[in-house]
Amino acid sequence: MRHFLEVEQFKPEEFIELAKRGIEIKNGASLNKNGLSIVNMFFESSTRTKMSFEVAEKQMDFHTYNFDVTTSAVNKGESLYDSILTMKALGMNIAVIRHQNNHYYKDLLDIGISIVNAGSGSGEHPSQCLLDMMTIIEEFGKIQGLKVAIVGDLKHSRVARSNAKILHELGATIYFCSPKEYYDKEFEKYGTYKKLDEVIFEVDVLMMLRIQFERHRNEARHIETEAAYLRDYGLNQRRYHQLKDHAIVMHPAPVNRDVEIASRLVESEKSRIVRQMENGVFARMAILEWVKGE
Ligand code: CP
Repeated sequence: MRHFLEVEQFKPEEFIELAKRGIEIKNGASLNKNGLSIVNMFFESSTRTKMSFEVAEKQMDFHTYNFDVTTSAVNKGESLYDSILTMKALGMNIAVIRHQNNHYYKDLLDIGISIVNAGSGSGEHPSQCLLDMMTIIEEFGKIQGLKVAIVGDLKHSRVARSNAKILHELGATIYFCSPKEYYDKEFEKYGTYKKLDEVIFEVDVLMMLRIQFERHRNEARHIETEAAYLRDYGLNQRRYHQLKDHAIVMHPAPVNRDVEIASRLVESEKSRIVRQMENGVFARMAILEWVKGE
């Protein structure tokens, strides 16, 4: 039984093999279809991850079920462990889970159902990381030697944590750019904290992050106005024109338009944001294939 939980469980080259498999699938490689049952359990909101898993599952002929947290016995105090135990008893083989706890999966690994991490609090988002690596490899054919700026609300970002780990291991140079309140010293081991205006001219990949307002509940709001954030830390027209000709702009989405990125740049020539969404389906197909042991 395999679990897809965090970037660290893979050797970097294995992770990239998985990204390449996503690209192969996208380019028409055949998939082994099957009759396994999957339950999607999203305890936090999602558009892209939930829907792309569901599209991948249906195209691979899984039996797909969606667990509705809002009408489930979770409201009566049912623990995550007991919900998963129930899913196993109902015949599910795989549970795709997004949860607000960074380590929610630690107690679920011996239940007898494969766990696929679809986002764990501010900890990891390995399937987003896989689709991001697919997108970069499609563009540049490699990770080694690229200069990548990861910009924005680093402290609350599971995407930044997963991507920083794998990009660092694969030999990218990483710059972290953010208001100091959104930085976390744990990123020091992967790259250098810089002002965006110091590195915008030299990066190959500009990876913008959403400000995770929903995770700021117990903290002071650190931005004065959205316009001031865009001016000081975001991707506006001025910075867009300072990018290298071949540089690409990424964002995991959802986007706070006109906060971390000017609205008109979301679909601009250098933007790969929609490509990332497209790649999400193929990355998740590769993950499900891997979880099945193929
Ligand atoms: N990027 C991402 O995880 O988007 P969703 O929250 O819509 O799944």
